[in-house]
Amino acid sequence: MTATPKTQPTIASAADVLDVAPVIPVVVVDEVEQAVPLARALVRGGIPIIELTLRSEAGLAAIEAVASQVEGIVVGAGTVLTPTQVQQIVDAGAQFLVTPGSPPHLLDAALGCGLPLLAGAGTLTEMLTLAEEGLLVQKFFPAEASGGRPYLSAVSGPCPQLRFCPTGGVTPQNASDWLALPNVGCVGGTWLTPKDAVAQGDWNQIERLARAASALAPA
Ligand code: 3PG
Repeated sequence: MTATPKTQPTIASAADVLDVAPVIPVVVVDEVEQAVPLARALVRGGIPIIELTLRSEAGLAAIEAVASQVEGIVVGAGTVLTPTQVQQIVDAGAQFLVTPGSPPHLLDAALGCGLPLLAGAGTLTEMLTLAEEGLLVQKFFPAEASGGRPYLSAVSGPCPQLRFCPTGGVTPQNASDWLALPNVGCVGGTWLTPKDAVAQGDWNQIERLARAASALAPA
């Protein structure tokens, strides 16, 4: 396993993951070489956290590269779909993991791996099923398509103990409204790392988007 740098922020729980920044950038890299400069641009812009997804072939190697080479950033693995991937991202040095949904075998593996987990839920029954496992901090996904802010706001009535990172359809325009909900700790989104900017290595653009995102506050 690759050792993480000494100055990596400490993350002990899913609640800690939500407290790092107003936004968790959800990132796809097609080339592993993109990951380190991209992560450094996020840090320069004031977003010291990244969710590197396993949606591309390069995802796993990207996690390992950022975990071992970029100081001062919390590195998570996103789009974790199988128990095999859970072991792979632990070995790569991920500090937390995110699942879009929470089927039983995946959930067992994720709970067993020892890393803070942001498990995905889109309905109240899924949220309560995760709560039965002790997971009171969750990813609400796909946030806009699953009922948006009215849905999550309604959840806070019967379940005030649950906290969320909504992801999926969150934008710079609506992020402050999401952050204003009492049960939202931070939001997640892909807008900080546009596909074109990543492909062209436009790290200044990503730094600018991160700087704007770091200033987001509840509306
Ligand atoms: C995720 O996996 O969290 C979403 O795909 C992010 O969705 P977005 O592109 O709407 O931000």
